[in-house]
Amino acid sequence: MPKKDSVLGDYYYRAARREGYRSRSALKLKEIAQKYHILRRGSSVADLGAAPGGWLQVEREFVGSDGLVIGIDISPIRPLPFENVKLIQGDIASPETREKIYSIAGRKLDVIVSDLAPKFTGVHDVDHSRQIGLALMALESAKMLLKRNGSMIIKVLMGSEFKSFQNETVRLFRNVRICKPAASRDTSSEVYLVCTGFKGEPSPPSPSEAA
Ligand SMILES: C[S@@+](CC[C@H](N)C(=O)[O-])C[C@H]1O[C@@H](n2cnc3c(N)ncnc32)[C@H](O)[C@@H]1O
Repeated sequence: MPKKDSVLGDYYYRAARREGYRSRSALKLKEIAQKYHILRRGSSVADLGAAPGGWLQVEREFVGSDGLVIGIDISPIRPLPFENVKLIQGDIASPETREKIYSIAGRKLDVIVSDLAPKFTGVHDVDHSRQIGLALMALESAKMLLKRNGSMIIKVLMGSEFKSFQNETVRLFRNVRICKPAASRDTSSEVYLVCTGFKGEPSPPSPSEAA
C-alpha cells in the first residue's frame, strides 16, 4: 500500500497542476497566506528564490493589480503575464541584486518571502547548513529592504542551526510563528517561519552617545 506521505504528495502535485501553478509548493504559500493574512491587496512583495514562479503566481493573486511582486532567482524565470510582476536574475547575496530590488520598488517593501534552497547533496547536515545560510541572507536583505512593521515568510530546514536562526528572527520581529502547511510532506524537514512586525534596524548611535 502506498505511504500516506506519498499519496498526499501526489494529491498536492495534481492539485497544483490542475490550478495551473508552476510548482507544487505554490499551495504551501497559499495556505500560509490565507491563514496569516500576510499578502494583502495592494502590497509590495519581494520573493527570494522565486524560480520557476509558483509562489509568484500566488502572490499576484493576493496583491492584485494594484500591488507589486518582484521575483529574484539565480536561475531565469519564465515571465508571468502581468505588468506588476517584475523579475530579476541575480544572486541574493550580491549588493547589486538588493539595489535592483530597491530601485524597482522605489520604497521599502511590505513583505519579503524566501523559499531559497541550495542544490541538495542528500547529506542532511550539509543541506541544512547551506539552507540556513541562504535563510540568513534573506534576513540580511530584510534589513535593507523591508519596511518597519513589514512581514516575512521564510522556509527553513530543521536541524542543529535552527534554534539560533529562530532566535535571530525573534530579535528582528515582534511576532514569529512556525508553520508546517498541510501541503508540506511529513517526511520533509522544512518549516516556514511567519514573522510579523519588523522592528527595523536600530539607528546607529549619535556621535555624543558613541563618545
Ligand atoms: C525551492 S526553489 C523555489 C520555488 C519557488 N518558490 C516556486 O514556487 O516556484 C528554490 C530556489 O532558490 C534559488 N536560489 C538558491 N540560491 C540562491 C541565491 N543565492 N540567490 C537567488 N536564488 C537562489 C534556486 O535557484 C531555486 O530556484
